[in-house]
Amino acid sequence: MGALTGLFAAEPVLLERWFAAQGAPPSIDLARSGAPELSTADILTVAGPEARDEYLGLPLGYGHPVGEEGLRAAIERDRSARHADEVIVTTGATEALLLAAAAALAAGEQAAVGVPAHGGVVRALEATGAHILRVPVWRPGSSRLDLSGLFRALQRGASVLALNSPHNPTGAVADGDELAALIDACTLYGARILVDEVALSTLNPHAESVTRCPEFISGTVVAVGDLSKSLGLGGLRIGWLTCADHELLGRVTQLKDITTLGTSVTSQFLAALALENRATLARQIAALATRNRDALGDWVMQIGGAEYTPPADGLVAFPLLPMREGAMGFVERLRATAGVSVVPGVLFGVPSRLRLGLGLSPGVFTRGLERIAVALG
Ligand SMILES: Cc1ncc(COP(=O)(O)O)c(C=O)c1O
Repeated sequence: MGALTGLFAAEPVLLERWFAAQGAPPSIDLARSGAPELSTADILTVAGPEARDEYLGLPLGYGHPVGEEGLRAAIERDRSARHADEVIVTTGATEALLLAAAAALAAGEQAAVGVPAHGGVVRALEATGAHILRVPVWRPGSSRLDLSGLFRALQRGASVLALNSPHNPTGAVADGDELAALIDACTLYGARILVDEVALSTLNPHAESVTRCPEFISGTVVAVGDLSKSLGLGGLRIGWLTCADHELLGRVTQLKDITTLGTSVTSQFLAALALENRATLARQIAALATRNRDALGDWVMQIGGAEYTPPADGLVAFPLLPMREGAMGFVERLRATAGVSVVPGVLFGVPSRLRLGLGLSPGVFTRGLERIAVALG
């Protein structure tokens, strides 16, 4: 088991430091990558009056270290896990990534991560003291992730692979058959694969979790999910990991004793209610994200030198735009003069692109695009 020897030397997660430095978002916030935020009242209203009484009467003890039964069962019913007893609830996907990396990797071992990547995935792997190989998985122009570099990393000795699908910042996804073959190859090499699927099924309602594929039973896969992006519930700080290998789950449970010990019981209660009503909530999110995705496609065609591959799933898009002064300068000017916030692609190592969030009202999204067009000149 990894000792998190790299934790205190960890480099910053650039995107999170950038968000923190930005302060309160301007009126048109295309920088966020999740669904519109929900409130406690929103969840309790969808769930009905009995849920409200139960919430107010909830005992505030520690709860179960691996998560409350009700939430774990809701995650299973949501088809985000095979069995409730294969789920460990965490403080966001962030903790799940750290615990999974620490349980699967030891200092000095090698791990490969598909890039560009959400910085939290890379830093969680680095925190173990393992040697991290960055493997390109995104090809401009394709909405399918290219897994060939991960296959090669495996052959060269990586003991853990990490993949984010649906992919932040592009919305590209791994092909199911190719991912199944990669899982098989990991099993053959005695390696593990960590799949971060936090944005699953937000744009594509038919998308299935990696936990549904028959190869999941091998115990090779650790899947990570949350409610932050998909339902606009980042403030609950609820995430999870699931794996068919109970020995790995045991190691994660042990590690969780020194990270957070338990997870907020009130958050877990609300998270379970939200998951049980996901069909209703997610339909609205997918509808607005689809409208925004299509509007972005039409808009890009009118901008000379722009390029855009529509995301296959997830709530972000990653167009290339002709920014004269460079992305960082453009983003700052856009915010200061037009009141629009977007994420510079340089924070993902791709300076020519911007990440735009699709999970907001189509009226606001379109106004944002209009202002970006003016700023591009
Ligand atoms: C791909 C990806 N994984 C994990 C996270 C962390 O999510 P959480 O809020 O559940 O900790 C994020 C947040 O931006 C993300 O984009």
